[in-house]
Amino acid sequence: MDKGFQLLPEQASKLAVQVDILYYLLVGLSFFFALLIFFLIYIFAVRYRRRSEEEVPRQIPGLIQLELAWSVIPFGMALVVFVWGAKLYFNTYTPPADALEIYVVGKQWMWHIQHPTGQREINELHIPTGRAIKLTMATEDVIHSFYIPAFRVKKDVVPGRYTTLWFEATKPGSYHLFCAEYCGTKHSQMTGTVVVMEPTQYQQWLSGGEASETPVVAGEKKFQQLGCVTCHGDKPGARGPSLKGLFGNPVQLQSGEVITVNEDYIRESILRPNAKITFGYGAIMPTYQGQINEAALLQLTAYVKSLSAVK
Ligand code: CUA
Repeated sequence: MDKGFQLLPEQASKLAVQVDILYYLLVGLSFFFALLIFFLIYIFAVRYRRRSEEEVPRQIPGLIQLELAWSVIPFGMALVVFVWGAKLYFNTYTPPADALEIYVVGKQWMWHIQHPTGQREINELHIPTGRAIKLTMATEDVIHSFYIPAFRVKKDVVPGRYTTLWFEATKPGSYHLFCAEYCGTKHSQMTGTVVVMEPTQYQQWLSGGEASETPVVAGEKKFQQLGCVTCHGDKPGARGPSLKGLFGNPVQLQSGEVITVNEDYIRESILRPNAKITFGYGAIMPTYQGQINEAALLQLTAYVKSLSAVK
């Protein structure tokens, strides 16, 4: 990973190239205007200097064309930068629907990672090239921030909610993974490695790893263990609503409000069941706050999501 002195980290994702082009444009524009202004100050100071004691400068009336030019041109340039930046921004916040979903849990001071096929890693993330990867991230304690410079992506991992991050790696290799939010004594050691592999190698890696339960299977077990199944067991007249086909679909709440079920809603309903009660049901579900950790929450979420998967 040590590649000597580099002005910028390697470009190892689709986004990296686009971000860098915009970055160079901004730096180029700044340089251009800084030099232009410096140069003009120098020229004007020499050319329009006071030549004698009695000299009175000639009055210059306003020139509307000039005023317009130096207002409209910079405005246009600012708009280009804005639109370009906004496009990139929205792109980084909208993972493609077919992205491979990997779960990340930050904890003082390490990164726990779980693949949809069950592989678990600590401070390492193995991914294939040419495939969109979506990370769903949570933290067991304080705020951390998942940062891969070579991909030009960084996202805070915040207590009490899920955050997501996505990227598509383009170049096999090993890249730095950092925690980019001060999180305590060993914040600076909360680092890791992202290993990008050709898809075939990635498949090999997947089959070579220790087989453990997938998040969905683990989630289903928790669903039984915690007794969720007693009320959400999908039986007629059950005390809790069925969870089949729930994810990604609208649900009407007691308040009359209609919301679309996402990861955060599932999480909230497990930890604070009375926050948003489904229409037609009572406030009888106990909270599971403090009884399950983030990893288990993610597994339960994965299980509930799997109940809506198209089969
Ligand atoms: Cu985790 Cu800094």
